[in-house]
Amino acid sequence: MASAARLCRKCILNLTPYVPGKPIEEVKRELGLDDVVKLASNENPLGPSPLAIEAMRNALDNIAQYPEGSCFELREAVAGHLGVDPDMLIFGAGADEVIHYLGVALLDSGDEIVQANPSFVQYKAASTLMDCPAQMVDLNDWTHDLDGMLARVNENTKMFFITNPNNPTGTLVSADQVEAVLDALPERCLLVLDEAYYEYADDLNYTRSIDWIKQGRNVIALRTFSKIYALAGTRVGYGVAPKQIIDLLERVRAPFNVNSVAQAGALASLSDPTQVSRSREQNQRGKKYFYDQLDQMGLSYTPTQANFLWIDVGRDCREVFNGLLRLGVIVRTGDIFGCPTHIRVTTGTDEQNTRFIESLRKVLK
Ligand SMILES: Cc1ncc(COP(=O)(O)O)c(C=O)c1O
Repeated sequence: MASAARLCRKCILNLTPYVPGKPIEEVKRELGLDDVVKLASNENPLGPSPLAIEAMRNALDNIAQYPEGSCFELREAVAGHLGVDPDMLIFGAGADEVIHYLGVALLDSGDEIVQANPSFVQYKAASTLMDCPAQMVDLNDWTHDLDGMLARVNENTKMFFITNPNNPTGTLVSADQVEAVLDALPERCLLVLDEAYYEYADDLNYTRSIDWIKQGRNVIALRTFSKIYALAGTRVGYGVAPKQIIDLLERVRAPFNVNSVAQAGALASLSDPTQVSRSREQNQRGKKYFYDQLDQMGLSYTPTQANFLWIDVGRDCREVFNGLLRLGVIVRTGDIFGCPTHIRVTTGTDEQNTRFIESLRKVLK
């Protein structure tokens, strides 16, 4: 073949495939280890609700049939849960897919997005796919520099992303700060509030996203079943927005994009009153343990409102990552976010958290 690159749209060459956290099985294989702990992808170590597991098993009975394309039952349940109309929701194979739809449906040639840096990588992927520039504004003290971001808004800005809590730093911006941004944005710019870790925040009133959306403001909130609901493997996330915005996104949604097992699991999760509270408690305990231990070790970290912690290990993060890996602990390196002395670690079970801290102590010795 002459050059495969000549087959594609030019902007595709600016994309790089997503690099996920290292899978457990791969580490076991490569290092000959039996017991490996993954604290790299912000998954919930307690796992999903038993009701979700049962519902997903039952859903297999009908697996020969296509899923309910509109996610009818899940839509009704999420609408009830949030107090919005069902037509104010779009479901995706993860919030990732909704971000993809935002790019495909909204970005025209010449449009731009504004986002924080470092933050979640898929916004830039969506804009690059559409050959549109992403204005990346450095975090200030590990949190969104909203004034700096607003200064980059111009007549071409189509979307303004706030990741709240931010990934990888776990920081929040307040509802008042977000509202000031909303008031300042031009009419043609959609405010995207990525709230993938919403349920982990100490105070759930930190955001008023659903109120703004009900008022018909130019906002989409992104939520997911991958994090606190522990259904990352099934891929279900959603966007909440005024109906007119959802109508645009529905035009580009792939048919049957959320599989029937995923829909059943997500639906059943919503009817379990305890799984979320247990997971919040586990995370609080893990955070406190990490803070105490890291204080003792003299390492600096960014207090988090999510289920992961951003730690400055004060040396090459790759060395620390490899050292931890040899001890069977997988974390995420900061270099992929442009921060070469940081690591991001997900809170695990008590046992996993102890294993991480003990391993970190050994590696840093
Ligand atoms: C900030 C943020 N948004 C969205 C997502 C995507 O989540 P999902 O699994 O629902 O695609 C992630 C996943 O890590 C995330 O960290």
